[in-house]
Amino acid sequence: MKNKKKKAPNPMWGGRFDFGSNNVAKKYTSSLDKDKRLFKQDIKSSLAHALALREANLINRKEYSQIIKGLNKILKEIENNKFHWEEELEDIHMNIEFALEKKIGRAAQKLHTGRSRNDQVVTDLKLYLIESINEINSLITKTQKSLVNKALKFHNQLMPGFTHLQLAQPITFGHHLLAWHEMLERDYGRLIDSKNRISTLPLGSGALSGIRYNLNRNKLAKRLRFKEVTKNSIDAVSDRDFAIEFLSCACMLGLHLSRMSEEIIIWSSTQFGYIEIPEEFCTGSSIMPQKKNPDVVELLRGGSSKTIANLIGIVSLLKNQPLAYNRDMQEDKGFVFESIDYCVSSLEIFSSLVEGLKINRKRMEEDCNLGQITATELADYLVLKGVPFRQAHSVVGKIVMYADKTKLQIFDLSLEELRKFSKKIEKDVFSFLLPSESIKSRNLVGGTAPKQVLKQATKAMKMLKNRKKS
Ligand code: ARG
Repeated sequence: MKNKKKKAPNPMWGGRFDFGSNNVAKKYTSSLDKDKRLFKQDIKSSLAHALALREANLINRKEYSQIIKGLNKILKEIENNKFHWEEELEDIHMNIEFALEKKIGRAAQKLHTGRSRNDQVVTDLKLYLIESINEINSLITKTQKSLVNKALKFHNQLMPGFTHLQLAQPITFGHHLLAWHEMLERDYGRLIDSKNRISTLPLGSGALSGIRYNLNRNKLAKRLRFKEVTKNSIDAVSDRDFAIEFLSCACMLGLHLSRMSEEIIIWSSTQFGYIEIPEEFCTGSSIMPQKKNPDVVELLRGGSSKTIANLIGIVSLLKNQPLAYNRDMQEDKGFVFESIDYCVSSLEIFSSLVEGLKINRKRMEEDCNLGQITATELADYLVLKGVPFRQAHSVVGKIVMYADKTKLQIFDLSLEELRKFSKKIEKDVFSFLLPSESIKSRNLVGGTAPKQVLKQATKAMKMLKNRKKS
C-alpha cells in the first residue's frame, strides 16, 4: 500500500505529484523575485480575463464581482506593502491566484479557466513593455528638449569639430547638440515601431493550442489596449521577438547615451575645458584634494554595457528553444527589466545634467585657432576660382606645411605669402580662412551655419512640443 500522500509541492499544479517538496528545487525554479514587478499588469489582465469569462457565461455575476473585488484588494495590498508573499509559489501569477483564493474561496478557482500561465506571462510582459516604452519615450523627449534648448542658445557658438579626435573643421556647438538630438530622435522612432509589434494580445492562446471556451478575444484586446489579437497560438506563447526588439532599441539608446557621455567626459577634462559639469554630478577623490571627477557620466557610459549584454543574453536564451513554451523563457524578464532600469534612470539624470552644463565659450573659440582648421575652406576657395579639387588639395597641403614650419596658422599668413603657392588667391580669401566666417558658409540643410542650426533647432522644438504624450 502507498504511504499517505505527502504535501503537494504546489497547490496550483500539485495534483499529479506524489512527492513532497524539494526546497532547493523550489528556490531554483522560482521567478518571484523578478516577476513581482509584473503585479499591476497581472491584475489588469486578470480583470479583463474575468470579464471575458463573465461574458461567456463561464462565471456567474456573483463570482465575477467577487473576483473583481478580490483582485482590487490584492492590488492595494501589494501597492501598500501589505501583501503576504508566498515565496514557495513559483511566481507572481500563482501568488496572486493563491491570495485570491484565500480571500474569496471557490470563485477564484474559476479565474484560470481558458487561460494558461504561458499566455498569461507573455501578456503581462507585453503590457509592462508598452508602459515602459511610453515612459522611456517621454524621458527621451525631455532630454531632447534640454538639448534643443541649449542648441538654440548656442546656435552660433564656434567650436572645433573632430574626426579621429583630431581637429577637423570649425562647427557650431548648437550643431553638435543637434546631432545628439537626432540620435535620440531615431531611438524614439524605433521604440514606437517596436511598440506597434508588441501590441498583439496572446490571451486566448492557452498553453499552446488555443482554448475551447468562447471568449471574445477581440474585445479582450480592445480592453487591454492591444491593437489586435495574435493569429497563431503556438507562436503567441513562444514569441519573444518583441522582447529582443525592445532590447535592441534599448541597446542602441544605451550606445547613444554612452557616446554622448564620452564626449562630455572629454570636453570637461582640464585639457579641453570646453564645458563644466555641474558639481552635483561629480565626485571628489579621497586622496587627491583637487579632483572633481565626472562619475555620473562615466557610469552612464559604463552602465550602457548592460544594454549590450542583455541583448546578447536574450538572443542566446532564445536561439535553441523549440516551440512552444519552455521554462527557459522565465529568464527573459531579468534582461528586460535591467535594460529598462538603465534607460529610465540614465535618461532622467542625463537630461538634468545637460540642462546644467556650463559652456566655456572662450576655450571653444581658442581651439579653432589650432590645427590649420580651415584648410578645407582654402581648398574650397581655390575650387571656386576654377582649380580642380585634387590640385587645390595638394596646393593647400603645401601651404599647411609652410605654415606649420613657421608655427603659424594659415589665416595668419599674409596675402603675399599665400600667393607664392597660387596666383588664384586674392584678398577675399580671408573670409574663407577665418573660422568664425567659414562656419557661415555651411548653409545647406543639415550644415553647421548658425542660420541653419537656428532653423533646425526651432523646427525641432516645435516638433517636440507638439509631440503627443502616449
Ligand atoms: N514563471 C513562469 C515564467 O515566467 C511562468 C510560466 C510558467 N509556465 C509553465 N508552463 N511552467 O515563464
